[in-house]
Amino acid sequence: MASETLSSEHYSATLIDHFEHPRNAGELAGADVDAFVTNPVCGDSVRMFLRFEEGRIAAASFLSSGCPASIATSSVATELVLGRTLDEAEALTRDDYAEAVGGLPKSKLHCSVLAAAAVRNAISEWRSRGAGGDSSGAR
Ligand code: FES
Repeated sequence: MASETLSSEHYSATLIDHFEHPRNAGELAGADVDAFVTNPVCGDSVRMFLRFEEGRIAAASFLSSGCPASIATSSVATELVLGRTLDEAEALTRDDYAEAVGGLPKSKLHCSVLAAAAVRNAISEWRSRGAGGDSSGAR
C-alpha cells in the first residue's frame, strides 16, 4: 500500500505533506501510555503514544505501518490532540482527522479509523489504570 503513487487528483496537498513529512513520527520518550491498532481488513497498523500533564495531552507521537492516508491522519492526530483534555481528545472522530488532512477519497475514508481508534484506545488504557478516571489525567 505504501508503494501507491500519491496523486494530487486523489489527495489534498495537506495530506501529501503529512505523508511525506510526518509530524511526531517515532516512539515518544516518556510516554505515559501507548496503543497499537490494526485494521484486520488491510493489515495496516498504527501505534500511538501519549503523554499527559495536568489533565491534558502534552505530547503525542506515532509509529505506522500503513497506507498514506493512515500515516497522514495519524500524523495530524498527534497535532490535533495536543493540549486537549482526555474527554476532548476522545470526542475527536475519524471525520475530524480526515477533515484535518483536507479530506479523504471515498475509498480511503476507512483509513482514518486507525488514528481515531489508537487515540481512543490509548486514553482508555490510561483511564483503566486509574490515571485519568476523573478526566483530569493527573498522575
Ligand atoms: S488501506 Fe489500510 S488503513 Fe488505509
